[in-house]
Amino acid sequence: MKVTVFGIGYVGLVQAAVLAEVGHDVVCVDVDQAKVDNLKKGIIPIYEPGLTPLVTSNHESGRLDFTTDAEYGVRHGDLIFIAVGTPPDEDGSADLKYVLAVAGTIGQYMTAPKVIINKSTVPVGTADKVTQKVNDTLVSLDKDTQFDVVSNPEFLKEGAAVNDCMRPDRIILGTASESAEKKLRELYAPFNRNHDKIIVMDVRSAELTKYAANCMLATKISFMNEMANLAERFGADIENVRRGIGSDPRIGYQFIYPGCGYGGSCFPKDVQALIRSANGVGYKAQILESVEAVNYRQKEKLFEYISRHFGGDVAGKTVALWGLSFKPNTDDMREASSRVLMEQLWAAGARVQAYDPEAMEETQRIFGDRDDLNLCGTKEAALKGADFLVICTEWQAFRAPDFEVIKNSLSLPLIFDGRNLFEPARMMEYGLHYYAIGRGLSVKEHGNESS
Ligand code: UDX
Repeated sequence: MKVTVFGIGYVGLVQAAVLAEVGHDVVCVDVDQAKVDNLKKGIIPIYEPGLTPLVTSNHESGRLDFTTDAEYGVRHGDLIFIAVGTPPDEDGSADLKYVLAVAGTIGQYMTAPKVIINKSTVPVGTADKVTQKVNDTLVSLDKDTQFDVVSNPEFLKEGAAVNDCMRPDRIILGTASESAEKKLRELYAPFNRNHDKIIVMDVRSAELTKYAANCMLATKISFMNEMANLAERFGADIENVRRGIGSDPRIGYQFIYPGCGYGGSCFPKDVQALIRSANGVGYKAQILESVEAVNYRQKEKLFEYISRHFGGDVAGKTVALWGLSFKPNTDDMREASSRVLMEQLWAAGARVQAYDPEAMEETQRIFGDRDDLNLCGTKEAALKGADFLVICTEWQAFRAPDFEVIKNSLSLPLIFDGRNLFEPARMMEYGLHYYAIGRGLSVKEHGNESS
């Protein structure tokens, strides 16, 4: 089938590449000429496992092309995805200007029937706005071309995006149009083999499903972080509690890992956007407001431990920091906990020696050159000459480090672990003072001894 994707961000590019891979004829449109030129040369703007070969091979085979020519893009696709960004505006609401600009462009250039598919995460009611915008544009140009607008939210995870797209858990189609549903069923047939993953519903329910899914996951995390904070105060160990509650299949083991807060391009933005949308319809979303507040506080947790440990004085300390990206397997630093920590350390007069397997360039781009930030080539180099170690991201490469090297490199045998990677008892055997999230026992046993 002929498909056009507007917006070559995470969602758009992965979706386009995967659709091309199964044989569809896909054109991607973006306003960014440099991005388009790079993609044609096989230079991918994001780090995502498996994406580069998928993009290059499908581009070479002619099934995946990139252009800034919106008119060509609109003419090409019978199915047109809108996958442009919806950044939060000042009050946290999703800004629809890019989505509606694409809707206008589609109206402007379409000369044959189209199915327009909203892939971007957009507030409930956006499909109606897109319909209105396309209609207004058609009327202003005196055209009368048929089109449908379908909500088809994306659930991919960064770092596993290709796999998530290839093997989706579900494919949500929000539409009342039988012909649009038929076309989308055909489009997604290669991804819908074992059992029917397609769930068809009304447009507004589909739009809300996306927010509900992300907000539910964010809620699980903030809930666990709240329990971790309680465990600490009660002298309990959250890791035992986690296993204890996860064994109930109604709760499950997934997404109940306590830590130094959730980040990324989705959870913080979507929780905020739904809070704002709720306000807009006269409803105070109390759970979501708490989810956000708990997460905000949780990102300050590591600094709280550090500051408490040193009696409030971390000026002049050199901190080895492992992990900068908001989660493993990505170079994405958006809303990363490491950023909150670094800002707090710098404000307190400490220096940071940081290492991340993928996010070094991104960190350099965000913070530039500064005296209190040293970006190191290896995790061992980050330790050299540092006073203590802090871990912000649970990269696999950090899970079994050489603890002797850590101890010998640091001036203090001290680790603050924001992702609970190690066992406190083992750390004690190594003679390391170990702070983790919600492991009150360990903090009580080792805390406040060294300085
Ligand atoms: C998320 C959703 O998972 C995905 O379905 C949606 O389409 C987009 O948003 P992503 O932003 O890529 O995906 O990240 P995810 O893997 O969900 O992790 C989000 C954050 O939560 C990370 O900062 C992670 O460290 C944190 N997290 C996750 C926890 O703190 N504890 C957990 O148990 C799980």
